[in-house]
Amino acid sequence: MRMFACLSLIIGAVALGSCSVSDERPEAEQAPMVSPLLTSDDAKDPYSYARPEVARVTHVALDLSLDFENENVAGTATLDVLAEEGADTVVLDTMGLDISSVTDGAGQDLPFRLGDRQEGMGAPLTIDMGEARQIVVAYRSGPDARALQWLAPEQTAGGEHPYLLSQGQPTLNRSWIPTQDSPGIRQTWEAKITAPEPLTVVMSGLSGGDPADAGEGRRAFRFAMDKPVAPYLIAIAAGDIRFQELGPHSGVWTEPAMLDRAAAELVDTEKMIDAAEELYGDYRWGRYDMIVLPPSFPYGGMENPVMTFLTPTFIAGDRSLTGLVAHELAHSWSGNLVTNANWSDSWLNEGTTSYFENRIIEKLYGKKRAEQERALNFAAMEETIAEKGADAAITALHLTGDNADPEGGASGVIYDKGAAFLHSVEAIVGREKFDTWLESWFDRHAFQPATSAMFLADMRQNLVRGDEQLEARLMLDAWVYEPGLPANALRPDPGAFAEVDQAAEAYAASRTIDQPAWRSWTSAERLRMLSKLPPELPDADLARLDQSFGLSASGNNEILFAWLKLALQNRYQPAVPSAEKFLATVGRRKFVSPLFETLMEQGEWGKPIARRIYARTRSGYHSVTTRTVDKLVTGGG
Ligand code: BES
Ligand code: ZN
Repeated sequence: MRMFACLSLIIGAVALGSCSVSDERPEAEQAPMVSPLLTSDDAKDPYSYARPEVARVTHVALDLSLDFENENVAGTATLDVLAEEGADTVVLDTMGLDISSVTDGAGQDLPFRLGDRQEGMGAPLTIDMGEARQIVVAYRSGPDARALQWLAPEQTAGGEHPYLLSQGQPTLNRSWIPTQDSPGIRQTWEAKITAPEPLTVVMSGLSGGDPADAGEGRRAFRFAMDKPVAPYLIAIAAGDIRFQELGPHSGVWTEPAMLDRAAAELVDTEKMIDAAEELYGDYRWGRYDMIVLPPSFPYGGMENPVMTFLTPTFIAGDRSLTGLVAHELAHSWSGNLVTNANWSDSWLNEGTTSYFENRIIEKLYGKKRAEQERALNFAAMEETIAEKGADAAITALHLTGDNADPEGGASGVIYDKGAAFLHSVEAIVGREKFDTWLESWFDRHAFQPATSAMFLADMRQNLVRGDEQLEARLMLDAWVYEPGLPANALRPDPGAFAEVDQAAEAYAASRTIDQPAWRSWTSAERLRMLSKLPPELPDADLARLDQSFGLSASGNNEILFAWLKLALQNRYQPAVPSAEKFLATVGRRKFVSPLFETLMEQGEWGKPIARRIYARTRSGYHSVTTRTVDKLVTGGG
């Protein structure tokens, strides 16, 4: 276990280097990196029980075995604690964990109490650590550990072996790791994980090499993350998975049956890394690998360091949906290197990443695709603001009160308004200046948490530099703290979809279908067309659209989803079997939740269909998805 050379508690924006005694000692002797802790009010995290200013976890060492029969993980978490002088308790976050003992580094029992469980937060684990600064928690995850999804063999592509996947963000990792689960409390970590043969384990840390025989038909896998990361970024997956190299720095893991298709879709990965580095500086994490998971993964992607987790639904065969990969890669800077200190500033992670994603797409695939994707996102933002109200607090970037619920935010705001903010600043100050500043922001705050206030202060200090006219033109505070869309927003080029919008108008006016045009369109253009169709259409028109555009047979899941939504909102019976098939295979919340919602809005026609399908498909979804859909279908009257 690691020992800390630095015992003083770091408070405030103290430079990283201030803790390690010297950088010139041989590596083995160097103190591990400890990130600063922010203590300002706007950096506090109300969704964690931890009191990091008193005692904080700086390193987690997991020794766990995966039990696929009982669907749990069990073992120990050994935590290194950095505490104020005289501090004798440390508080951890837990959710449903069965804790059998807590001891100090020498094996002496330490008294501990599990507090009351609160919805969405789990329960605080308070440990009387006395003078101990290393604690060992022996535990087992609970029956419904929310981060974990245990898949039966039938839910995998191969159909023969079980599978495990985790999703930590925002506050779910406490259901399988007893630590301080707050994005502002960065921790290094290491893990030894055993799994039954022939399963392979991957994690969001660098691999410790080939697995070792652990007896009883099991193998032990080792991982380490020596850079301090937010604990929501610790992730695990295990299954019958294989690796395919994509280039010198990257590769993809997935089930054998998926490997060729996944690798083909991801062929541009090295180019994406190059583009990202050209934009905003070195990639600091070593390797960039990805795992393409079974379709029950509840998100499109998750930026777990060195091991991005991806839904297989981004595979369209033509790389048209690889913006997802650019997005998760971009998080290696915005999100993983510089991290929102708490969830009220999620936009710092997601908005900055959405902007960065668009810049990678532009570099790789050109201005047209980038501009079109930006226009789609801008339209999504306008729709969200119109829906929520331009004066609704939830349309501000910095969220407060209930709006800051980490499971709550509106993606049209956090992602799309966040990106629109940075596109607008870029347009006002000029690309070159903006890029220099953004790269320097990542550099100055590398491996540290950040808040909106820090972002704006840094921008003022290093980009605006006292230029009052520029300050007035930027409207920085309005963007971040006020609802709605500021007047200086950079609007997308109205020409981005000129041809498509014309075709959509022609369709609305006279039901003219231009099949050759559709065939020539990009994925973004097709999505634009579908979004501009009249919301109410009779069966005959839907049938003709489906047939002319090949919608229900589309291999592009974004297009298939847009079609199914349109069809269901029109109570189009012939689409029900394909909707059911889609919902029975795909667990990505972004797709599943709106389809059930649409069905539930269709009264006596849709509700029984939703209930029947959900009864059949629910058990195949991750908790992230069931928790959203339960409210729609079961609570939906
Ligand atoms: N970090 C997010 C996923 C996330 C956000 C999980 C909030 C839990 C809470 C990830 O980077 C993401 O944004 N995924 C998007 C992809 C995208 C291209 C916008 C998704 O899953 O759809
Ligand atoms: Zn993201």
